[in-house]
Amino acid sequence: MNPKMNEHQHPPDTTPLRLTQFATRAGCAAKQPQGYLLPLLNCLPPITDPNVLVGTSSSDDAAVYKLSDDLALVLTTDFFTPIVDRPYDFGAIAAANALSDVYAMGGRPLTALSLVGFPDQKLPVEVLAEILRGATDKAAEAGIAIVGGHTIKADEPIFGLAVVGSIHPDRVITNAGAQPGDVLILTKPIGLGIITTAAKNNEDRLGAISEAIEVMTTLNAAAAEVLLRFDVRALTDVTGFGLLGHLRNVTAASKVYARVHADTVPTLSAAREYVAQGIAPGGTHANRKFLADWVTYDDSLSKEQQLLLCDAQTSGGLLACVASHQADAVLHDLRRAGVRWAAAIGSIEPGEPGKIFVSGR
Ligand code: CO
Ligand code: CO
Ligand code: CO
Repeated sequence: MNPKMNEHQHPPDTTPLRLTQFATRAGCAAKQPQGYLLPLLNCLPPITDPNVLVGTSSSDDAAVYKLSDDLALVLTTDFFTPIVDRPYDFGAIAAANALSDVYAMGGRPLTALSLVGFPDQKLPVEVLAEILRGATDKAAEAGIAIVGGHTIKADEPIFGLAVVGSIHPDRVITNAGAQPGDVLILTKPIGLGIITTAAKNNEDRLGAISEAIEVMTTLNAAAAEVLLRFDVRALTDVTGFGLLGHLRNVTAASKVYARVHADTVPTLSAAREYVAQGIAPGGTHANRKFLADWVTYDDSLSKEQQLLLCDAQTSGGLLACVASHQADAVLHDLRRAGVRWAAAIGSIEPGEPGKIFVSGR
């Protein structure tokens, strides 16, 4: 052994760095609530460019810009502060989450740019290298490269992507096409916000964070590929506004009514326990409050069950409205493609436009 090396050796660092301790808010739970954003967007002048097929007016997942009669771009960005402790996982989750909005429009990702804020005085540069490595690997899994980006100094780590995708202008799946009779299909379990909050606060005594990371790092690519083979009328992904918040975007844009069967919604079991103990991110409470004007719950549902359905997700699943005669085939094909959590969770019905009813069973 080289004695010179020994001289300068530090005791091995046994306490791993915990990235969530550098963030006051985590993941999509840091998203500004809908009650804050919608009036702001309404104050801006309307978009008049006829090539903008989807803009800000319909609270959709991504913008769509038509280039020619058979080609349009899908444009979206998402970034947030650390939701998990390992930098590599954070990068992978942020990338999967940002890519998801392209899939949620029925598009195919082409390329991406990274958006980075980094506290270079508090954290070693190796942490940023790991975040970027996680994102690059996840992008490669989606078949694309991260081709550039922008990095600023910041008090907390921030990471995300701006993603560009492509789509045929006639095959854009917005939030506006849901029709009475459609079946609601969700492709990932909920409860991610509650579990990541528990982990950040050292209250994840069931060790549920590893399953949550597995769910959050799963691309929605395979689910989208299956769904696009069928007659999908409306499609979105479940992120910061929670299952019911994103469903509300669909019912409002489609001017339809929805019924959700609470006990059919795939849920990470630890999240049920934690929410019953009062663990939930601030964004989840804000979602439930905003949705009070839109959602009616069956009397049998406790406040905790309501919170779970409003839980702010990061890199959640796709929520699809599918023609009812195809629902069984869609579920069958999703499971065969490895989308094991996929479930039918309710339906679109005639009723007061925009509103949602949640039944106990
Ligand atoms: Co989305
Ligand atoms: Co988004
Ligand atoms: Co959509």
